[in-house]
Amino acid sequence: MRVFGGESGSGGTLNAGALARVERCAAVISEGGLVAFPTETVYGLGALALNEAAVRRVFEVKGRPANNPLIVHVDSLAMARVFFSEHAWERFGELVQKLAAAFWPGPLTVVMEKAERVPAVVTGGGAMVAVRVPAHAMTLELIRRVGTGVVGPSANRSGHVSPTSAEHVRSEFGDAVEVLDGGVCVGGIESTVIKIGPAVGDGVRVLRPGLISAAAIAEVVGEGVEVVAGAAKSGGERGVEPAREREEGKVTGGGGREREGTHEVAMESPGLLDRHYAPRTRAVMCGLEGWTGVVLSVEAELGGRAVRAGLLTHSELAGRMCVPPPTCTDVLPGDARGYAAGLYGALRRLDEAGLDVIVVHEPPTAGRGAEEAWVWRAIGDRLARATEREG
Ligand code: TXA
Ligand code: MG
Repeated sequence: MRVFGGESGSGGTLNAGALARVERCAAVISEGGLVAFPTETVYGLGALALNEAAVRRVFEVKGRPANNPLIVHVDSLAMARVFFSEHAWERFGELVQKLAAAFWPGPLTVVMEKAERVPAVVTGGGAMVAVRVPAHAMTLELIRRVGTGVVGPSANRSGHVSPTSAEHVRSEFGDAVEVLDGGVCVGGIESTVIKIGPAVGDGVRVLRPGLISAAAIAEVVGEGVEVVAGAAKSGGERGVEPAREREEGKVTGGGGREREGTHEVAMESPGLLDRHYAPRTRAVMCGLEGWTGVVLSVEAELGGRAVRAGLLTHSELAGRMCVPPPTCTDVLPGDARGYAAGLYGALRRLDEAGLDVIVVHEPPTAGRGAEEAWVWRAIGDRLARATEREG
């Protein structure tokens, strides 16, 4: 069940120009430098995983808290193994092999006990390391040439909107970071992060929802392994208008058992708690009925001057239903995968439009089946964080 049918970006074969660019970037990384690289989800900020100084530089450039661990990108299951401890491999190697066969290359990140050789700076000081094989031909070739794992947090300043094009990365870091341009990311939101062992039943726990669903994972891991879907961020304080609580419905699995988790799951991943994926412009999420209230309250704050309010929606008709009318409207596709692919680009466009407020029209929670509902859930998780109030 490959989400992207193998490799996105250049369809798996690279022309001479692309190969030359990959080769140059591989040399930069091998020498301890930083290169932003494309994946099927978002662009990553790459550096040699086994080079402490290079990894530290990634934290510096991003302004990322040192306790928030990084994902190591590898080109194969064989390379992934090098980063996991022997002990973890003995216990869970078979499970990881099944998952890799089903989902790699692709947007699934596996967190497991780290090998000793993995520097503590990569894992935020913790005993677990996150690893994935990205589905992008240029980046797979890049890693192959580097010959070992490449760390890759999303290539944005900490807390800001993730980049889905080389242009987005340049707008984050200017010339400070070389960018391997592999086109626009087809997936558009970050990978599903799962944790395997130790403890909490030693099943599979979803730490961050992404394009691969807990149900699809349960199907692959089979009988006897519990998959805990985790609690996507929802509700809470979303800004001016408190939005209706997102319903966290149980998604049923296949062979394996799957159940809903609690907030403990999110607590295991330090990067998942705070405001995140956020535009610089104040952003609020609500139903369309909340539009007028949001605009009026921002207007009151601004001392009565006309408010420049942008609308991000999945519905063609939404803009026409808003009073007063939006200054600008960005309409994303009504299907979850299309919406995910366009989301960060749209947030960036609206962020650059000189608005006083961005109103995100609450996306659906249900789709045409459980898989689409899961993707809406992953999107809802990103939007809840992007519209979290600062502080
Ligand atoms: O799709 C993606 O995953 C992208 C592309 C570039 O691969 N990368 C990405 O990295 O989103 P980043 O650093 O922005 O998000 C990684 C998430 C964070 O929430 C982090 O806390 C979590 O994965 N994570 C990484 N290592 C972990 C670990 N050892 N234990 C628990 N969570 C971990
Ligand atoms: Mg990120």
